[in-house]
Amino acid sequence: ARIVLLNGPNLNLLGTREPGVYGRTGLAEIEQRCAAMAADAGFEFSALQSNSELALLERIHACRQDDTRLIVINPAAFTHQSVALRDALAAVAIPFIEVHLSNPKAREMFRHHSLFSDLAIGVISGFGAEGYEFAMTAAIRRLRVAS
Ligand code: DQA
Repeated sequence: ARIVLLNGPNLNLLGTREPGVYGRTGLAEIEQRCAAMAADAGFEFSALQSNSELALLERIHACRQDDTRLIVINPAAFTHQSVALRDALAAVAIPFIEVHLSNPKAREMFRHHSLFSDLAIGVISGFGAEGYEFAMTAAIRRLRVAS
């Protein structure tokens, strides 16, 4: 059973990108922490960050073939825009947890609406890089109960 971590546009810049909003932890470190948590719990793990909607769509589609049981996704700006990514998650019907480093509801109006949250198992926002670890904890517990 596999857990897949997906990160959307501009998150490759984490660490240097608006550190007052997104913190100083880089994406490589976040991915390593999540990979270690998955490995410790006995799950396979893959991570992808892309600035391209296409690459994220194709990775979600591929989840049907690689035993992915749960997706942790920070869609970044696509949160507010991408009907296509939302539809892909609905199409593969793999449960997912939505993560945001910041709390989008405490920011500009255009960030208040997510196209993903009503389909997600749950949403973790506002805890910075640690939010990914909280999501992984939730993912691992859920998969253990399911298996
Ligand atoms: C974000 C919030 C989004 O509004 C923004 O476009 C991002 C990052 C977050 O993690 O806080 O790129 O998803």
